[in-house]
Amino acid sequence: MTTYNALRDLPGQAGYGKGDVFVLFGELFGRGYANGLVEEARKAGMTVIGITVGRRDPDGALRPLNGQELADSEAFLGGKIINIPLEAGFDMDRTGPAPSPADQLKGIKSDGWESAELDWDAVDRSRKAGAARFGHNLAKVSAELDRMIPAGANVLFSHTMAGGIPRARILMPVMNRVFKGQGERYTASEFFWKSELGRLCSLCFDEVTADTFGHLIDATGPIRERIASQGGKVVYTAYGYHGCEVLINGVYTWQSYTPYLQGWAKMRLEEIAARAWEKGVRATVFNCPEIQTNSSALFLGVEISLYPLLNAMEKEGGGPAADRIRTACGSLLKHGVTVEELLTAAEAYLSDPLLEPFREFDSWPHHNTSAQAAFMLNSANAMLEMNRDPKEIVCAELSRAVFRAVGRLMFRTSWAAAAPVYWLNHDVVARQSVSAE
Ligand SMILES: NC(=O)c1ccc[n+]([C@@H]2O[C@H](COP(=O)([O-])OP(=O)(O)OC[C@H]3O[C@@H](n4cnc5c(N)ncnc54)[C@H](O)[C@@H]3O)[C@@H](O)[C@H]2O)c1
Repeated sequence: MTTYNALRDLPGQAGYGKGDVFVLFGELFGRGYANGLVEEARKAGMTVIGITVGRRDPDGALRPLNGQELADSEAFLGGKIINIPLEAGFDMDRTGPAPSPADQLKGIKSDGWESAELDWDAVDRSRKAGAARFGHNLAKVSAELDRMIPAGANVLFSHTMAGGIPRARILMPVMNRVFKGQGERYTASEFFWKSELGRLCSLCFDEVTADTFGHLIDATGPIRERIASQGGKVVYTAYGYHGCEVLINGVYTWQSYTPYLQGWAKMRLEEIAARAWEKGVRATVFNCPEIQTNSSALFLGVEISLYPLLNAMEKEGGGPAADRIRTACGSLLKHGVTVEELLTAAEAYLSDPLLEPFREFDSWPHHNTSAQAAFMLNSANAMLEMNRDPKEIVCAELSRAVFRAVGRLMFRTSWAAAAPVYWLNHDVVARQSVSAE
């Protein structure tokens, strides 16, 4: 288990500049965490390079981006994309006549998934085939990167990859029951996790969320050696999640979204960084606060811990940036609803004794209970109801504030990181948000 290491002070300026290179290892989406780091890299004048996970044809074949997709992605990123598909995972990988995991899941019905049995030999062969495909393409991407990175440039690699839920129709209703179900529609996350479907998901999460970071570090060894011999530095960052301290009753308190089934993969990610660090590679995982992105959309309730960021910004000094964000949040609420009421509701939820057992750091990640799930989902819905327009919500405003602040904290810390794992909690994120620096 990684030692709890919270970043408590704002880091100094980073030394990256024009001619240095920022490599985004994952695709960029409009509201994703990576926007914060990309913004910082652009501001510093760095050359931005991206990759693609590729796209799947209707017959399931993995292909590079077509001309239009490539042009759109490059315009959005503001940099060149190496167009070799780097989709991680193995849910659609077949070996010979053996079915892929997605094929195996096709026959499973929603009223019999609990007792479904998978062919684990076939799963293992797919896992090896997926890793080999990814490794093969990554070697080509690394060689291309080596050609693109100028002599002696400083290089910042940003790993954003996470996910891996196998693409099979059966998993949607099951996941909805685990993450959004209550009463008769509730399924315990532990029951799911111990089923064969859960075991498959666990392997997929490990591969996509964690192992890709190790593959990136290994494949780019020659770049590190060359750059070091030319006087530059190569550093790696990755986005982790391992709970987050937020203000509860005026005290920064560690809490977590439950059930975070990617948690085991995120701890594996931390271990990969720690092992690389021991070998002298500057690879750092930054455990970040909960925000709303494409990837977290399934986790209704994950956003509740975002609301007290407004209180944290006041505690950390307030000022024009805090006022602007608070006013913007207020303008998104229904007529007659105030920011104070929203914050009172969030505080009532976060401080409820029902959640106390879920705030035990050492036993993280926790499974859900039916009472906890119902309490979280009903509280989340009540707070979301306070927004005037479900498409423009307070959480979106707060998520932007968080990914910007986190981007700056990661960018600056990465220049001279002192540890393989940091927690970025609401204290330092709020301080960065209200800081003019
Ligand atoms: N949203 C949160 O609350 C939160 C909190 C802490 C950490 N994070 C982490 O931040 C990172 C970025 O996530 P985000 O929430 O901004 O969402 P996002 O959807 O914007 O980003 C997800 C990333 O994963 C990549 N990805 C997805 N499936 C992949 C696959 N099969 N192979 C390769 N790459 C794949 C995507 O290309 C994208 O870059 C992730 O590591 C995530 O776990 C998110």
